[in-house]
Order: sequence, then structure tokens, then C-alpha cells
Amino acid sequence: MVVLSEKTQKRLSIKTQEIAANTTTIRSLDWDRDRFDIEFGLQNGTTYNSYLIQGEKIALVDTSHEKFRQLYLDTLKGLINPEEIDYLIISHTEPDHSGLVRDFLALAPQATVVGSKVALQFLTDFVHQPFTQQIVKNGDRIDLGKGHELEFVIAPNLHWPDTMFTYDHLTQILFTCDAFGLHYCSDLTFDEDLSAIEPDYRFYYECLMAPNARSVISALKRMGELPEIKTIANGHGPILQYHTGELVERYRKWSQAQAKAEKTVAVFYTADYGYSDRLSQAIARGITKTGVAVEMMDFKAADPQEIQEITSRSTGIVIGTPPASDQYMQAALGTLLAAVKEKQTVAIFECYGGDDEPIDPLVTRFKESGLAQGFAPIKIKDTPTEAIYQQCEEAGTDFGQLLTKDISIKQRKAVDSEVEKALGRISTGLYIITAKKGELSGAMLASWVTQASFEPLGVTIAVAKDRAIESLMQVGDRFVLNILEEGNYQTLMKHFLKRFAPGADRFAGIDTQPANNGSPILTDALAYVECQVSSRMDCSDHWIVYSTIDNGRVSRPEGLTAVHHRKVGNYY
Ligand code: FEO
Repeated sequence: MVVLSEKTQKRLSIKTQEIAANTTTIRSLDWDRDRFDIEFGLQNGTTYNSYLIQGEKIALVDTSHEKFRQLYLDTLKGLINPEEIDYLIISHTEPDHSGLVRDFLALAPQATVVGSKVALQFLTDFVHQPFTQQIVKNGDRIDLGKGHELEFVIAPNLHWPDTMFTYDHLTQILFTCDAFGLHYCSDLTFDEDLSAIEPDYRFYYECLMAPNARSVISALKRMGELPEIKTIANGHGPILQYHTGELVERYRKWSQAQAKAEKTVAVFYTADYGYSDRLSQAIARGITKTGVAVEMMDFKAADPQEIQEITSRSTGIVIGTPPASDQYMQAALGTLLAAVKEKQTVAIFECYGGDDEPIDPLVTRFKESGLAQGFAPIKIKDTPTEAIYQQCEEAGTDFGQLLTKDISIKQRKAVDSEVEKALGRISTGLYIITAKKGELSGAMLASWVTQASFEPLGVTIAVAKDRAIESLMQVGDRFVLNILEEGNYQTLMKHFLKRFAPGADRFAGIDTQPANNGSPILTDALAYVECQVSSRMDCSDHWIVYSTIDNGRVSRPEGLTAVHHRKVGNYY
């Protein structure tokens, strides 16, 4: 059954299927969800997967998003009397999986809630009512009977510190929640159509898991100690059964590549405090766009030795201010401050938790110690908006670019290859891409642009992965391609080549008018076309963005397009 949620008029449906002996998936299909957190644009909706395992005892693994309240609870009651459920296993406490825990416990007050120590701490705050709980550690087991012996694998930071996996020794299913998931909604329960799902699998990894690559590697190591894993029963998207090994190996390959990055930034935050986790994720995503590795560390869950180790091996440190009145976290911050060394680069953001450690004394302290600043302190005076998250992501990118500046210059100078010189003889035009989406906007000087199709009219644009505008050029997004004019492009080029502060208005002082699609047309451009992103191809350090053209106009018919000549092919 498909229902339209009253608030959003978006399609919601539920699908159940037996996926192994005594094991049923309850998949909540959110067909039209187009955004997940911050800048995570979804092309194919998403699902929230929950699982029922019926041995002699019965366990439910995770619940669903609260928007599925009625549908989910009715479906569950159709499968089993909730009063017969012995365990509710919580893999992770974000509301898309735990949003119905309170409702579930109202129907099944006898159930014991099982989770990691951190998960149960979060959940206690969230549920606001007493419930029976059982904290499990790595390797702990619960025997459900009929051969279903469950073993728990603690997998912190995938992508919250609370995460744990559950392995059923009978069915050889590993329940992983966010890890190995993807935002992809379809009637298919499994991953048989690999080519359909792999772009979303990769994108999901980049957004959620890449900032936690070292934690992914640790989790893979723990997974390696289990017997065979036949199926990965994830929390989002198709369940991995046809290509399990292949898709797990991709996580290993991508995470090893991330972890090998020459430089690392440690991002310290406080889960479940203000907007610390979301803001830190946006910053981490900005940093990883530049090829710099990130290690996320929760003040609440870290022990002093870990803080010391991570701080001393990182090139850069980002600190989300912890609560000023929490002694445990103040001690953690003290450990961090004691471990920071000269030559490291540091940045600080407020979490808007109502009790933030004051930011200015910290900034002064770092300045006086001679530490470089990765980005200007982010002071948040209101509930973060999309623009604030964009500012955080751009600040992260600035931080990463600052750390990789020397590497980039070295690479540019190392021009001794005939191949690079020959490649440099490819010439292109000069363009400025402009985009506006709600309160977010961006602009970028581009030269790797070419027409790519006649029917429909289409262009491809290569966009470096560390460009801020990249998050406004996801499938379905609209933008304007402004074509610059020979002899009349210097002012525009100079303006858009400037370094802008994170979140700064790129269009201040520039004449623009809105296109039909809402993005700015630069009045001084020779021509413009309005584009809509149709697909993206991952090309190592660039995205190739293929877009169809909706509209366009030439301002000066006699004008010629500005041409960009280069000498070498290892930079623009
Ligand atoms: Fe799917 Fe982190 O929740």
C-alpha cells in the first residue's frame, strides 16, 4: 500500500519479505525523500530497514522513521504480537532507525533494549521513560534459540559513536544499520542490479563513511573475525546478498585510500549535544573533498589516551565546543589542549547546545601558542540553517586546501613530462557556473566544459571534487552556465577567482538577473544557458556533470567566446 504523508504529499509504503530462516525484513520505503541531513541530495529516495528474527525468543533489529509510525506499527502487528518480542536491538540511535522506539515500547513494554553503552545512554535521554536495557560489548552473544545465536560487533563512528553490528550465526546475516547502506528506494529487496545501485552506494560512502575511514577499517577487521558473512542486512537501501563480498571490498579499498592520505584532520565533537554532530559532519565532508583524511572523535565517548594519540598524529584539529558545565568533557578538552603541538592547524566551531565552552578564550589561546588557524571561528547564534551547514562545509574545504597547498604547488611545479605539455594544448572556453537553491548559492569559474549531446541538448562540465558548488550540482539540480566573452571577461574572471570566505555571497557587487530556473545570469556574460543535471560520473579528482539545456540566450551576437590556452595539463 502506498500512502501520501499529509505534511509532505510524499509517497510512503512498506514492504516485508522473509530473507532467511525465521528472518523477515520490514522495509519502510520513502520514495520521494530528496534530502538527507545537510547537503546530502538524494536521487532515488531511501528506505529504512528493520528486521524481525523469530527463534524461540524473538528480536527486532531497529525500527523506522517516525513518519512511518502508523504504517510500521500496523505492519509489525500483522507479523507478530509485539508483546511476544523479547529484544529490541538498537544498532544506532539516529531517529531514522530509532524514531519509533518509544511507540514500540508502549506496545512491547516487556522487551529488553539491547545496544552499545553509548547507544543506550543516548536512548535513555531520548525515550524519557524507564525501560529494561542490556548493554553489550564486542563479542557478547544472545542466544535466541533455533540456532539463532546473535553476536555483537561494536563498530563505533559508522557513522555515530553508538553503532554496533549484529551477526546471526545461523543465517550468517550481519545487520549493519547505516554501514554498507545506500539511499536507494525500489521494489527490489536485494542488490541484484549492481549497476543501478553502485553510484548511490559510492555517494553514500563519500558522504557518511569517508570521514570515518579509519573506523571503517577497524570495523572490517572485526568483521573478518566472524565466520562467513552471506548477507548484509543494512539500514538503508537494498540488502546486500548478491554482491556482498564485492561491495564490502569496495569499503575496504575506499577507506584504505582515504586513510593513506598524507594529512589527517581530527574533528572533535559531542554527540547528542546541540548541533555538534551535524555541524561536524558538514565540516568533515568539506575536508574530505580535498583528499585530506578525517578522524571523527566524540568527546563523550573518547578516552584520554585516544584523544592524545589522535591529536598528536593529526596535522589539523577541529574542535566543536563541548558543554562548559560537563566536567568529563572539560577534562577531555583539557587532554586535547595539552596534546596540541606547534605547527598544527586548529579551528573551532560552536555547537549551539546552550552551554558551549566559550569560543574566544580558546581562539586566543591557540593564537598565542602560534598555531595556524584552519578557518575563522564559526559562531552560531541561531538554529543552524542550510546556509550555516554550507558555511561549515566550505570552511572544512578551506581547511583541507590550506593543508594541501604545499602538495598542490609541488605537483604543479613538477612539470617535466611531455605528456603533460601535450595535454596542455587542449584549449577550452571560459565560463562561470552560477547556482541558487533556496537560501544556498554558489559560483565557479569553469573551463572544462563541452557540448555533449544534440537530442536533448546537453553539456558536460568537469568539476573538481573540492569545489563548493559541487553540492549544488547533484542530479536534478539546476544552474546557469554563463559563457564569457573574448576581450570582456577579465573583471568577471578576477572576481570569481577570488578566495571567498566560507558562506560568503559570491555575487556581491556583480550585476545579475534571475534565470527562469532561479540561478543568477551574469549580465556581462556573452551568453548563458540554463541547465539541469542529468547524471554525474566519478572521475577520480573530478565529477563529470552531464546536464541538459532548458533555455538560453546570446547577449551580443557579434561577440566571440573567451578561449583559455594552457601550457601544461596538470592544472587548469
Ligand atoms: Fe540512517 Fe545515521 O541514520
